[in-house]
Amino acid sequence: MLARRQRVLAPTYRLFYEEPLHIVRGEGVWLYDAEGRRYLDCYNNVPVVGHCHPRVVERLARQAGKLNTHTRYITDTPVELAEQLLATLPRELTSVTFTCSGSESNDLAVRISKVATGGTGFIVTEGAYHGTTETLSRMSPVTGVKTAPEVYTVPAPVGAQNVTEFAPRVRECIAQMKRAGVQPAALLVDTIFGSDGVASHPAGFLEPAVAEIRAAGGVFIADEVQPGFGRTGDAMWGFQRHGVVPDLVTMGKPMGNGHPVAALVARAEVMGEFAKEHRYFNTFGGNTVSCEVALAVLDVLQREKLVNNARVTGDYLKQGLLELASRHPAIHEVRGAGLFLGVQMEGRERTTRVVNDLRRESVLIGSAGRNADVLKIRPPLCFGRAEADIVLETLDSILRE
Ligand SMILES: Cc1ncc(COP(=O)(O)O)c(C=O)c1O
Repeated sequence: MLARRQRVLAPTYRLFYEEPLHIVRGEGVWLYDAEGRRYLDCYNNVPVVGHCHPRVVERLARQAGKLNTHTRYITDTPVELAEQLLATLPRELTSVTFTCSGSESNDLAVRISKVATGGTGFIVTEGAYHGTTETLSRMSPVTGVKTAPEVYTVPAPVGAQNVTEFAPRVRECIAQMKRAGVQPAALLVDTIFGSDGVASHPAGFLEPAVAEIRAAGGVFIADEVQPGFGRTGDAMWGFQRHGVVPDLVTMGKPMGNGHPVAALVARAEVMGEFAKEHRYFNTFGGNTVSCEVALAVLDVLQREKLVNNARVTGDYLKQGLLELASRHPAIHEVRGAGLFLGVQMEGRERTTRVVNDLRRESVLIGSAGRNADVLKIRPPLCFGRAEADIVLETLDSILRE
């Protein structure tokens, strides 16, 4: 299968792990390979309510058998979904646009912010990842692509010093832009800084940085593609931990539990400026089936109290990781909120080894950060204490060896 794959798929694709996995089935927090061996999924944030959740699958199938069409007709599900999403967001955010991916949402946010501000300059973090389009790939320095001339980078707020210096560095970037004759359009950040290696505390550190960009005439785009839908445990959206209300919010990944559905939510005045001259039609964005799936995800999140579980299980796992850190000098720091945890390790090589050793023990995690030296733990939100114990025990024994 690996040989077949390499024959036909583009060489741009990458596989996880030294010994790649051939996965054939998923259920809850478990993935199964072709030999029937099961793996604890501690990495996939997309199947937020668990792989193949029966309620989501059932509603998807039912809607697919009834109607699937686009947003040029009046259909119920996009309206229902927009209403339910807005109910989870601050009241200043009033206008929903559906897309099919986080990249499409961010790309639209970039376009809107340029029109709304008249600016062209963007600030992102040094290890940011925001998507696949031409524009976004040049705002995603973690991929190694050179950023576009009007994209300025700041060190991510990882580590105490970078946290306190985050807002002053945003201010410095704005000053640099102005010296170069560039008018600021937006500060664009993933509110949990996942690809930068996870930055979470102290909650509130984003607020002064957002004030800086606004004072310079720009807007704040909260990329909620990773932290959104309750992952950080204390709220539905990562920005809520920081006490700020963004001008634009983008979301995707977990929204459809694996089905491609994403969205952008905007303040009325910001969207209004864009809508004066621009129309937006996305063939599959807002289709009836995708919206039904996203409604099912919201329903399950609520019924199964998964945001609360992200907090409770996340706290338990974090405490356990901190305890491991006290015994294993290879762990330098434990960061994160809810079920989005980053374990700062000593060096890239060691991190890669731990990730691969865990995979051999059937525990799947990944790495993050500019130096790929952070263990990234980001399981489906139905992850419980028993599963957290498996992670802790397996990691402990690997680090002891
Ligand atoms: C923070 C962030 N923004 C945007 C994206 C792009 O989303 P998509 O892959 O759905 O286009 C990603 C994907 O990894 C992401 O992590």
